[in-house]
Amino acid sequence: MREPVSVPAVAARKRARGAPPIVMVTAYDTPFARIVDEAGVDIILVGDSVGNNVLGYENSLGVDLGQMVHHVGAVARAKPGALIVGDMPWMSYHVDPADTVRNAASLVRAGAQAVKLEGGRRRIPAVRAILDAEIPVMGHLGLTPQSVHSLGGFAVQGKDAEAALELELDAQALVEAGCFALVLEGVPDLVASRVTGAIPIPTIGIGAGPDCDGQVLVLHDLVGLSTGRPPKFVRRYADLATASREAIARFAADVRSGDYPSAAETYHASADLRRTLGARPGG
Ligand code: KIV
Repeated sequence: MREPVSVPAVAARKRARGAPPIVMVTAYDTPFARIVDEAGVDIILVGDSVGNNVLGYENSLGVDLGQMVHHVGAVARAKPGALIVGDMPWMSYHVDPADTVRNAASLVRAGAQAVKLEGGRRRIPAVRAILDAEIPVMGHLGLTPQSVHSLGGFAVQGKDAEAALELELDAQALVEAGCFALVLEGVPDLVASRVTGAIPIPTIGIGAGPDCDGQVLVLHDLVGLSTGRPPKFVRRYADLATASREAIARFAADVRSGDYPSAAETYHASADLRRTLGARPGG
């Protein structure tokens, strides 16, 4: 059993201070949380990307708090040493600070040790309210998937100087509010590098180049379980979809040919039971 990863330990992980890069991977269920943890990641993100990776939605907007609680609970039951961060789903932190705190608390009660929410200066009241309840908050800037409609799609953000400077101001505001780490998604390398150099908390990049303090990938992209063409920042380390399809096709063929189950895979009736009941037709 490794030493559990804590929020303060993550908050101190700046590469400029000699720390190794932070590794974060998503997981949404117990078996994968176990595998991801055994692989030695620092943080398991129970992302609202569960919507498009597991639940069949087009994007993360269909995911509600109940579903996030369900998946955070499943991950927590793996008892990982990695820090568990639960995503606040869309509309769970946009309306009322009291509701926001209650919603964040539901994720903590399910097993999250911190929550993540999207957005910059507009979300500071939500960040402050959650922090007031002693719940650590991870920020998320750049291509924020919950803003897919207002952004007009999943496009790289911070591409011109004005947008890049706005993003830096958002990052500073999240730091001042008390976030312990910041996801930077879908931004040019220079923008991520400037933000990383300008703030004292670690940045964790996804499609944000090599200069962040850590990197995150969605599990299903990394192991080849997602469908469609992945974004260019995705590196696929396995093809579990093909391996699974081939395994299931072999099972189907064995059933159809009568090869499965074999004698070794069968619970045999005792001689006594056979005598009493008699052999069943075909058995
Ligand atoms: O939900 C998610 O998986 C995320 C990552 C892309 C950072 O927010």
